[in-house]
Amino acid sequence: MSTAATPVRLGDYRPPDWRVTDVELIFDLDPAETIVEACLRVERDGDAAAPLHLDGEQLELLSLQVDDRPLEADVYRLDARSLTVFDLPPVASIRTRARIRPAANTALQGLYLSGGAANGFLLTQCEAEGFRRITWFPDRPDVLARYTVTLRADRARYPVLLANGNAVAAGEDDGGRHWARFVDPHPKPCYLFALVAGRLERIEKPFVTAEGRQVRIVVHAQADAIAQCRWALDCIETAMRWDEQRFGRCYDLDVFHVVATHDFTMGAMENKGLNIFNSKYLLADVDEATDEDFRHVLAVVGHEYFHNWSGNRVTCRDWFQLSLKEGLTVYREQEFESDVASRTLRRIEDVRTLWRAQFPEDAGPLSHPVRPAQYSAIDNFYTATVYEKGAEIVRMLATALGRDGFRRGLDRYFERHDGRAATIEDFLAALGEANGRDLSPWLAWYEQAGTPELSAEGRHDAASGRYALTLRQHLPQAGPGRPLPIPVALALFDRGGRRLAAQASGPSPLSGDGVIVLDRAEATWTFEVGAAAPVVSLLRGYSAPVRLAQTADPSDLAVLARHEDDGFNRWLAVDTLVRRLFADALQGDTRSAVHDAWLDALAGLLGDASADPALIAEVLTLPDETTLSEGLQRIDPEAVHAARSQLEARLADALEPQLAARYAALETIAAAAVDPASQARRRLRNRCLTLLARAAPRYLELARTQWRQAANLTDRLAALACLLQAQAPDAPEALDAFAQRHADRPLVIDKWFSLQATVAHDDAVERVAALTAHPAFRWENPNKVYALLLTFALRNPRGFHRVDGAGYHLIAESIARVDALTPQVAARLATSLGGWRRYEPVRRAQMRHAIERLRARPHVSADLSDILDRSLA
Ligand code: PHE
Ligand code: ZN
Repeated sequence: MSTAATPVRLGDYRPPDWRVTDVELIFDLDPAETIVEACLRVERDGDAAAPLHLDGEQLELLSLQVDDRPLEADVYRLDARSLTVFDLPPVASIRTRARIRPAANTALQGLYLSGGAANGFLLTQCEAEGFRRITWFPDRPDVLARYTVTLRADRARYPVLLANGNAVAAGEDDGGRHWARFVDPHPKPCYLFALVAGRLERIEKPFVTAEGRQVRIVVHAQADAIAQCRWALDCIETAMRWDEQRFGRCYDLDVFHVVATHDFTMGAMENKGLNIFNSKYLLADVDEATDEDFRHVLAVVGHEYFHNWSGNRVTCRDWFQLSLKEGLTVYREQEFESDVASRTLRRIEDVRTLWRAQFPEDAGPLSHPVRPAQYSAIDNFYTATVYEKGAEIVRMLATALGRDGFRRGLDRYFERHDGRAATIEDFLAALGEANGRDLSPWLAWYEQAGTPELSAEGRHDAASGRYALTLRQHLPQAGPGRPLPIPVALALFDRGGRRLAAQASGPSPLSGDGVIVLDRAEATWTFEVGAAAPVVSLLRGYSAPVRLAQTADPSDLAVLARHEDDGFNRWLAVDTLVRRLFADALQGDTRSAVHDAWLDALAGLLGDASADPALIAEVLTLPDETTLSEGLQRIDPEAVHAARSQLEARLADALEPQLAARYAALETIAAAAVDPASQARRRLRNRCLTLLARAAPRYLELARTQWRQAANLTDRLAALACLLQAQAPDAPEALDAFAQRHADRPLVIDKWFSLQATVAHDDAVERVAALTAHPAFRWENPNKVYALLLTFALRNPRGFHRVDGAGYHLIAESIARVDALTPQVAARLATSLGGWRRYEPVRRAQMRHAIERLRARPHVSADLSDILDRSLA
């Protein structure tokens, strides 16, 4: 059993004793053995006695010189994790040569090979601490340097050479080798370093920035993938224009490179001027990508591009500040998709993600504040909390400051910290000063873990015509804590659905956008509404990431489901009804009074010709089992599955004629159209099909017809899912046909794995286990492991939590196997066991046992032990 690393604490932060002003790197590239020569110009910036400390791991030292002289053995110390140099003058140059082995690097951190030994290409991944596997360096984000990089490689095998910044020179070497040199004028932390070398194809288009800079946008991929990069190239252009218009941010180099790889542990990486993408988030064409994939490409391309300002031009002082770049960039990405595609849909999806992933994370042993106070393995903090809850905090700030105020604040932040490393305090100070406000109370959102509860109580007094709304907040896990500023966007309606323009008085004013801010434990606002009781719509657009204790009357929710003009809250009203029904169903009450209100609301929406089809599809989609389990004390996944299935069957039965009519009416949607309106109609049509296939076996004929005629992957997969779900006799044959059709397309095969992993049949565990032996499955490939095993663990609660423990056993074995190859992926898989305390006793014991057995194995990576230890603590 390995011991965990000593934790790093935010309170121990000290500025670096040494700065690195300039770096020169020379790579002699070869998959078996690459030689890295590094020359760092260092300057003392602190304590004169402090030695120079450089991080370095899995490097073989070939030579070491200071100011061009070899170093005596007594003035440096080398160990497995670092190189320390003593007695340096205040300014010095440190030159090292190291040998590294890219082809043997299955951790996918540092320099590695993608695409196999025969035809693969070389690339790097450095965030968070991968640069230390390339050369010795102060591997911390507050050391910003200017980089000059020379790449040398065999020309035939590595014709394309790329690194950050602008290409300045190139030439030939002996023996069929060539070289290229790059200068990045923007100082950057080493986690943003990148290089790529290989046989890559490219597509490109020119772009002129609002500042008049001529830019080439270039997308690179291997030959089998380049034809599917068109959509991404268009999305990059859209993102560049959008960031100029919405936030005044222009691109700042002559070229913007984007590269696709099938071998990547995360979604994508924002290396300066050389973004690297998991192919899952870059490739898209209608025959091999779903509508959802098209949206993801748009969003992730935007996300990485927006990092060029929020992350690269202004970076993080230390990794505790990770949400400074990630929360802000996720917010920017959300706004991007909302502006160029559908705001309501994006918001519903984000809130579903928050509820499914972040709320449970925050309710279990892996809970941490958006800015953690300590960590043992930073790789494990790329979490839903840092990303999604972090984005919610930025959204709340934007809501509280208003659109113009937020823009002013962000301008101030980018100006003041440009080219430097910043903290969350810096961010709040810039936003606050630009608006003449003290935003320091907002720090509590970053420092206190747990999901706050918000309760609302309304009292109407007919005689005075006043409506009093009392809001209370409570942070369950975190003890007393500081009160959080909670922006509550609200609207009042009469029972006919007309919006009331009510005057309000209370501790904070009602803004022009209809927002009040609850900044204490409890407060009351009074609205002049007249003699009739209003219907109140709270947290419009989900204005704060809280658990709303909903006591609203079902008939009020029905009014909102019909008339709310905020699409999100229209959906929220129906979702609130569903959750109540689910709670009743778990108690065995299957005919609760809420039932009719729910079905009426759905029928009303289905019949509303003016309603967005995507919104209708969303109200017809019940929360998943994980979301429904959230908040339960002793989860019984079988009972949750049964109650949810029963509700879904009820819905399908009750609405069958309308669903069939809608399915037929939506027949002609151009197969190749991926504009938001076509996607929305396809989404509704496939949702109708899925429900109909549940309602009666005869509707499987519709699915079969669609399966035969489908001209895009969205429709083909939806039909296949219906057959599989219903265990139709021809389902196995259809599965085989699908696998054959797409045999050489890894991303499509990933979907085939995922689909089978999510089906909640009794033998799901055995099916998934058998698929790990399928020739297309590869343990070294994160996408394969995620598609099959992580999907099974997270998206098939009935299978994963089977009461005999077989699901836990399968996942534990898989974790052990993957840990020997790619620790980050193993650690991510292991988070699926983290919620063990919330299950009924039998499963709880089995999950705990699985964690303990994993922990007791002889070789456990630092990433995995961190997750296991925190899960048990
Ligand atoms: N910084 C990347 C992003 O969110 C995520 C990432 C983290 C990628 C670590 C690789 C490694 O955009
Ligand atoms: Zn990011």
